[in-house]
Amino acid sequence: MPRTALVTGGSRGIGAAISVALKNAGYQIAANYAGNDEAAKTFTDETGIATYKWSVADYDACKAGIAAVEADLGPVEVLVNNAGITRDAMFHRMTPEQWREVIDTNLTGVFNMTHNVWPGMRERKFGRVVTISSINGQKGQMGQANYSAAKAGDLGFTKALAQEGAKAGITVNAVCPGYIGTDMVMAVPEKVREGIIAQIPVGRLGEPDEIARCVAFLVSDEAGFITGSTISANGGQFFV
Ligand code: CAA
Repeated sequence: MPRTALVTGGSRGIGAAISVALKNAGYQIAANYAGNDEAAKTFTDETGIATYKWSVADYDACKAGIAAVEADLGPVEVLVNNAGITRDAMFHRMTPEQWREVIDTNLTGVFNMTHNVWPGMRERKFGRVVTISSINGQKGQMGQANYSAAKAGDLGFTKALAQEGAKAGITVNAVCPGYIGTDMVMAVPEKVREGIIAQIPVGRLGEPDEIARCVAFLVSDEAGFITGSTISANGGQFFV
């Protein structure tokens, strides 16, 4: 019986690449998404991967959504917390709403999802949780006090929970992508984006597949000794 993997924000960008990589590695995939129905439908048509709509920022919606996935595909043994948003603004212009939206999705969303798969993983004595943090959670980024705070929080969450999961056969890890060629990065003003690429030693944006390969490694049965870790994939832009 193949393991079931649930990827949040799994129908676009880095999440779509993760969904496809895990499907190719033999997992049954559920790709969650929050808003873009058209992209989700295209993704399912092209890949055959089922999509499920709910917001990770809503605890009860996560509980119901995970129950629906498990009814269709069996217990979620692999959770990839990938869903994330930006609401970039210099801090002096950042609104409380921009702060809240990013924290609710990028940090509390990770709690909401993980909390609802954790009891089952503990009972079955196996689980893989990977959270997609960011280079900007490691180094901080001007214009992203909200996003950097949430993504740094994801790393603290990962290290704490790894200690709780260890005896139950559950590994909890993070991947910190640098700047990857997705809609999120392409939304950065062109002049700013060019400045960012100039700071990346390999001289280019990353590819979504380069992050997906890190995730496929961390969730594999063979990676059971790796927990509480962070893989940085950023083209040499920042060393921890
Ligand atoms: N790197 C270097 N300089 C930056 C910068 C960055 N990432 N972001 C802003 N700046 C600089 C601008 O170039 C500008 O400098 P000058 O005054 O010398 O021209 C100054 O900061 C102010 O910026 P703006 O004039 O653009 O100010 P604004 O108020 O109109 O906009 C902003 C502010 C919304 C933050 C906008 O600058 C912006 O979108 N910046 C990009 C922030 C960023 O890096 N976001 C990452 C998104 S991708 C992501 O989050 C994925 C991931 O995990 C890596």
